[in-house]
Amino acid sequence: MAERNQAVPPANLNGISRPGRGGAVVKPKNMKGTLGRLWRLTKGHRNGLGWILLLSAFASLASILSPYVTGKAVAAIGSGDAVVWVLCCLAGLYLCDWLVRFLQAFFMASIGQRVIHHIRRTLFAHVRTLPLAFFDRRQHGELMSRLTNDVDNISTTISNSLSLLLTYSFTVAGIFGMMLYLSPFLTAVSLAGVGLIFLLTKTVTKHTRKLFAAQQKNLGALNGQVEESVSGMAVVKAFCREEEMEREFGERNDRLCDASIRALICSGYLMPLMNVINNLLYVAVSVLCGVLFVEGRISDIGLVTSFLLYVRQFTRPFVEIANIYNNFQTAVAGAERVFEILDEQPEPPDREGAVSLKCPRGDIELRHVAFGYVPGKPVLRDVSVKIPAGTQAAIVGATGSGKTTLINLLTRFYDVSAGSILLDGRDLRDYRMEDLRQAFGVVLQDTALFAASVRDNICYGHPEASMEQVREAAGIVGADSFIERLPEGYDTILTQGGMELSQGERQLLTIARAVFASAPILILDEATSSVDTVTEQKIRRALLKICADRTSVIIAHRLSTIRDSDRIILLDNGKIAEQGTHEELMALDGIYARMYRTQTELG
Ligand SMILES: Nc1ncnc2c1ncn2[C@@H]1O[C@H](COP(=O)(O)OP(=O)(O)OP(=O)(O)O)[C@@H](O)[C@H]1O
Ligand SMILES: [Mg+2]
Repeated sequence: MAERNQAVPPANLNGISRPGRGGAVVKPKNMKGTLGRLWRLTKGHRNGLGWILLLSAFASLASILSPYVTGKAVAAIGSGDAVVWVLCCLAGLYLCDWLVRFLQAFFMASIGQRVIHHIRRTLFAHVRTLPLAFFDRRQHGELMSRLTNDVDNISTTISNSLSLLLTYSFTVAGIFGMMLYLSPFLTAVSLAGVGLIFLLTKTVTKHTRKLFAAQQKNLGALNGQVEESVSGMAVVKAFCREEEMEREFGERNDRLCDASIRALICSGYLMPLMNVINNLLYVAVSVLCGVLFVEGRISDIGLVTSFLLYVRQFTRPFVEIANIYNNFQTAVAGAERVFEILDEQPEPPDREGAVSLKCPRGDIELRHVAFGYVPGKPVLRDVSVKIPAGTQAAIVGATGSGKTTLINLLTRFYDVSAGSILLDGRDLRDYRMEDLRQAFGVVLQDTALFAASVRDNICYGHPEASMEQVREAAGIVGADSFIERLPEGYDTILTQGGMELSQGERQLLTIARAVFASAPILILDEATSSVDTVTEQKIRRALLKICADRTSVIIAHRLSTIRDSDRIILLDNGKIAEQGTHEELMALDGIYARMYRTQTELG
């Protein structure tokens, strides 16, 4: 069963993760390169970034200076004026801190969101240009998560982490400088303690990371199963597999539970341990200070106060930086996945001097066309056929013989591997892609409806269409009667992308959409396979009227629906086995005649 979510672990979006959690960190493959690309995306916001850097430095000022000032206050006890003055300083400092942090958040939010807005726009604009072959190669869920989760992670984590990372780095450096200034000897002692904490964090996170990765993997497996069970519930019930499903779910749930408990317990002892070490360090330095004070080697009580306050603050940023860095890495790895999509080759651009195609006559000719989706696995071989303008051609053949593939080549969803396809005597690749696609009104085999109103689904791409035009298209294919029975008629929103309609009703809507587009060439791939025979006949008669002066290509398994076509092309295993009119093919007494007889006898 698929473990879909594995590739994209949810990043910890709190900005500050729990210390030692060490969740599933995904390391970027090329940190430097990816950061460089992200940096280039901030073009136009560099001034703002400069401000963020500056503000981050200021944001650390309060942490760096307040212990020093407090020490001064303690030392000045006794002289009333000095204390008041120092306390005012301290209050001013905290006020400034608040202001600086607010400004920092303000800049980070506005710049972060604008950069992400830009990335999202670029990404979507790019995805639009990618060839269908790209989507074939990928699992849709994975692609979706790149387009949504990964982009979100970049935005949240980087905008949160970046400012925190900067602030904490400045804080550590500043505190270290102040400690060094106050007492190099005590600083050296403290550093030893901090080193210990750092090493400990590293070892423990290494261990917890593995446990969290296991938890993530089990979660992915569980989610995959839930998704499959929900979407395939009808099949599960039909095959009475409910109990197996529940048992399987139970096992996965147990495994997830075990893995989670282990991971959480392991990470749970780190924080208290760190506190203990931190406190021990504090006590050690305090005792040392006391000894030095008694021995008279330090005389300034203010210095002791300041230093102890610094020691208290020193370790925290280290741990935070380690955690934020992990989040940061996950986000950069997400950015890498996003950039991978941006690096995909778009559909080849129109040829130089591509001609526009306004009102094609509709002469189609295939010359020795060969094609395969995967190199070395030909689907179509040496297909040559002429479909004169204004005629109706039907493509028939067994399942998997390559009928849909032929349509994919006609509409240039894919390009031929060898040979050529001509429209009005010119190679398809000589036309501008946009014009070419507009020349075809296509009803695909998979009915695709959008989560919009029935009306918008019919006039797809032409929101300015009048209600009369929409009604007319629906009326032609006989979809009007069922649409009017819907609760809100044409304004009914297909919330589930048409899943709430019957399969035949969905087909009627897609045909109405193609009729509405009123393109010069009409292509129907199994467009009426799910409607009853009476409706099918009605549609056929309507289409005959519409197609009277247009070229049309129709794929159908029910041969009775296409027997009047001007030409019937029988595909067998990627090759044209027979072609001609119904009468000619029946006279030939070959595959077609056999298929036809089988169907009529059965019918
Ligand atoms: N996107 C794809 N990637 C790889 N192979 C594909 C792809 N689409 C189709 N094929 C393969 O190409 C062959 C022809 O498929 P095609 O969809 O053209 O058949 P068809 O004649 O339309 O069948 P049906 O009557 O079932 O619709 C099949 O063997 C199929 O497995
Ligand atoms: Mg097909």
